[in-house]
Amino acid sequence: MSFSAEIDTAKRIIGSYTNHKIVRLSSLVEYFSEPAEVDKMLKDKNDLIVYEYFEKIFKNEEKNMNFGLTIIYPGKVGKEYFMTRGHFHEKSAAEIYIGLDGEGMVLMQSKTGIVELQPLKPNTVVYVPPNWGHRTINTGKRELVFLFIYPSDAGHDYDIVKEKGFAKLVVEENGRVVLIDNPKYRR
Ligand code: F6R
Ligand code: ZN
Repeated sequence: MSFSAEIDTAKRIIGSYTNHKIVRLSSLVEYFSEPAEVDKMLKDKNDLIVYEYFEKIFKNEEKNMNFGLTIIYPGKVGKEYFMTRGHFHEKSAAEIYIGLDGEGMVLMQSKTGIVELQPLKPNTVVYVPPNWGHRTINTGKRELVFLFIYPSDAGHDYDIVKEKGFAKLVVEENGRVVLIDNPKYRR
């Protein structure tokens, strides 16, 4: 179930959309560093919505731009914050994120495994360079809401992230947001 308030927010900000995707905990088991923790949460609670996005897509249309709104709900799996799956673009295509509400981080990673972390908060732009993988993490207590804009023909490659993961994890330790090595990362 998506909340009607979120649908209203999306419509107000981006207008009509062509795609609305809801991503629940059960479809993210292998993306979190502790899959057993996800299984435990799934047994104890409902299958929570971790994030959803609303998007205006111009199907692989050269020289056009897709844009939309992502909402990541607050929460953690163990000490790892709720986050998107993350992906690389298939083509060498950059992306712009603009923070609207809440607080979070964008974890970016080059194809050679160099990692960069940038804060995402209201009225802040994060630039994702071409060929860098990107994952967004909600480190706050409220929803993290941001706009995204990228070339329509960029394409999305989720397999690299599924197979190798990101080199770093964003976790809470002693009440602080910290970046740690991902012990399961495969080069
Ligand atoms: C599009 C983009 C964002 C993400 C969205 C959900 O190129 O980067 O719109 O698609 O925040 O994340 P993923 O796609 O990783 O599930
Ligand atoms: Zn992207």
